[in-house]
Parts: sequence; structure tokens; C-alpha cells
Amino acid sequence: MQKFIVRGGRRLCGELTLQGSKNSALPIMAAAALCDGDCVLKNCPELTDIYAASRILNCIGCKCRYSANTAVITASELTTTAIPASLMQEMRSSIIFLGAVLGKAGECTVCLPGGCELGPRPIDMHLAGMRKMGADISDYGGNIVCRAHGRLHGAKISLPFPSVGATENLILSAVNADGETVINNAAREPEIADLCGFLRACGADIAGGGESSIVIRGVERLHGCEYTVMPDRIAGATYLAMAAAAGGEIILTNACVQGMEPFLSVLEQTGCSIYSSEDRIYLRCGSRLKALSDRVRTMPHPGFPTDAQAVLMAALTTAEGTSVFEENIFDCRYRHTDALVKMGADIQVMGKIAVVKGVNRLHGAKIEATDLRGGAAMAAAALGADGITEISGISHIDRGYERLEEAVSILGGDIKRV
Ligand code: EPU
Repeated sequence: MQKFIVRGGRRLCGELTLQGSKNSALPIMAAAALCDGDCVLKNCPELTDIYAASRILNCIGCKCRYSANTAVITASELTTTAIPASLMQEMRSSIIFLGAVLGKAGECTVCLPGGCELGPRPIDMHLAGMRKMGADISDYGGNIVCRAHGRLHGAKISLPFPSVGATENLILSAVNADGETVINNAAREPEIADLCGFLRACGADIAGGGESSIVIRGVERLHGCEYTVMPDRIAGATYLAMAAAAGGEIILTNACVQGMEPFLSVLEQTGCSIYSSEDRIYLRCGSRLKALSDRVRTMPHPGFPTDAQAVLMAALTTAEGTSVFEENIFDCRYRHTDALVKMGADIQVMGKIAVVKGVNRLHGAKIEATDLRGGAAMAAAALGADGITEISGISHIDRGYERLEEAVSILGGDIKRV
């Protein structure tokens, strides 16, 4: 089992080019299954979740070749519409293939991705929307069987909550449906806009991707295209939080500056100097961080992103004063706090609230990553801590960060994979 060994206490300095976005690349790969002809996806990050998506594409009869951050996907008639449980369980976002396969083949069978690490992740909104578009959906012993009886039809769907996954799945179901679909209260995350950008490049008729109302007029066919996946705003937030935790002066290039604004505006209040231009972000952190006077409330975009909650918390464990977090998106997203406490942090969790009293220093410890962003937070804390931290369970981190140890080393951090 691989581990990260982090020697803390070095300031981070230098320039880093950000990886492509995992949460954008995954639905775009599913969308490529809908196209006739080759889709060439550039800036596709090299991650275990991307390999899992490639395996699903190959299993359903599309050809996916991946090298040097480029995925080439050749879709044809699907050879199966049932995605095996073993592939569904490799990653939670496998559920995004449901909309694509149902939209293309008129049927799809999946099982729910198993044992959740962030708390329950139901798909009721995905299924309710698909039912409105004419799908019959039944549950046979844990398998969800969806049938469209021909083509899905357009529908007016109002989501009770702007779910990212439900919005993506419904867009994928609607692009080839008969007539117009309107999704109200849609998720506005930049990754939704990127998925719509890709689909438009393939010939889809979509208005409003990235806004709370999305209108999709079904088209007969989609064609292949070449598309560059947007930069990863959460990886960007992570490297900035690492520099805030360890101190230093870094520049991120290929950054999604506008999409990162909700994070940047909060990070700036901790006393870091942040300047951004079109696709570059400069951060300098020369002194101890200040705790945040306002509560950090995670919210759907453009609110503060839940995916950046853990890494910001890691940086604030040694800030001057007390910061308060409120996690509103997932039930179990404070699993990193035990490890931070083991490193000397003072954190009290009460339901959705976490109170972080800044301590002077953290110290190294043997800790285990239990989820992707929590694992990244542990690495951030370790970079600012005294002594050596050993982080096990790093397969969680590899799901979303392209060779994290190389990226951190480029910035001068001392982190090794063993
Ligand atoms: N929800 C329901 N019913 C549904 C769908 C969602 O109750 O039918 C609830 C969920 O249980 C959760 C909340 O709504 O409490 C938000 O879920 P959402 O559907 O928005 O999240 P997701 O699509 O499962 C994506 C990202 C997550 C990110 C969230 C929120 C991908 C592959 N995953 O998940 O990313 O945290 O949106 O922004 O895009 C990560 O990258 O580490 C990660 C977890």
C-alpha cells in the first residue's frame, strides 16, 4: 500500500500549471458515448477515476484510448446497456453514465455505487427527472432498470435542490430526446457549463448551461469533436490552501479564475495576498493566517464549494483565532478532522458545524486519508506542520489529484510517495 511521507515546515514557492478538471472530464466522457465519430478530449487529467470511466466506456462498446492527457473516444452502437456492478462501484460518479446510455439506447441497467464515504448519496432527483421524460424505472434486487420505450421525450423538470449529478444526468438524457426539456433550479457549477460547451461542440442545442434554468432541444444526432476540458478549480483551491498552510508565494497557471472566485474571496480574508488575471492566480502568505470572522457555509455554486471545505480548514487550524464551518451539502464531510486533531489541531464537530480554534503549530503524525478532499487536506496540514507526517490511504487522493506529490514538489514542498 502506498503512502505519502511529508516533511513539513518548508515554504511553498514557484509556479504550477493546474490539471484538467476531474468533475468536468467525467461527465464529458459519458457524453462522448452519445456521439457518432471520434471525440478528442484534451487536458483530461490522469486519475484513477478517469481510468474507471474509460473502463465503463469500453465495457458498453465504445473505444476509449487515453494517453498524455488526451482521451480519444470512438462511440458506436452500444454492445450492452447494463453496466456491471464491479464497474459501477469503482467510483461514485459512474451514475452519470445512466443518462448517457438511456438517452442513446433507450434503456440502461445500473446498480447504486456502494458504501458512501461522504454520507448518503441518493439519486432520487435523477430518476424523477428521467421518469418525467418517459422512462419506466424499476428496482430489481438492487439493480435499477430504466426503459424509455423508444425515444425519451422533453419535459419541464424543477429540481428540489440544484444537484450537480442530477443536472448532468438529465442534460445527457435530454440532448437526443424528442422535443424540449427545461431544467429549473439546475446546478450552476462551472463543470455544468463545460459539459454543455462540449455537447454544443458536438451539435447539441442547449441554452443556459451554468445558469439555473437550462433549455435543451433534442437533436437527432451528435457528432464527434475536439474539446479541451476546463481547469480543475478544486485542485487550484487545494494548492492555494497548501501555500496558505505552509506559507509561501506561488502562481497557478491554467486556472479557472472566475469559477474559483467563491473560494478566493474567502481565502483572501485570512490575510493572504491574492491577485488574479485571466488564467493565473498569484498568492503570497507571509505571516500567520487570521481566522475567519464569518462562518464558512458550503453551498451550491456560486456559494463556497464543499469540495474546498477540508483544505481551507487544514490551513485555518493554525490561524490566529477561531473559525466556524457549516457543511450544508454532505452529511459526512468532516472525516478529516480526526487526523487533523491527531496532528494537534483543536476542532470540535457538532453535526454540520465544525469549530476550529487556531493553535500555534501542528506536528507530524501517522494518519490515514478516508476520502479524496479530506486526504488532500491532510497533505496541506502536513506541509505546514513540524516534523514528518505519514499519510496512508492515498488511493483516495489519486482519484482526484494528478500525481499530487509531483505538483507539490514543483512548489518546493517535501513530499514523497513510498
Ligand atoms: N442529492 C439527493 N438526491 C439526488 C441527488 C443529490 O438527495 O438525487 C443530495 C446529495 O445526497 C447531496 C447533495 O444533494 O447531499 C448534493 O449532491 P450533488 O448531486 O450536487 O453532488 P454529486 O453530483 O454527487 C458532485 C461532485 C462532488 C461535489 C458535489 C457538490 C462529481 C463527480 N462530483 O457530486 O465532488 O462535492 O457535486 O458540488 O462531479 C469531489 O470531487 O470530491 C466530489 C465529491
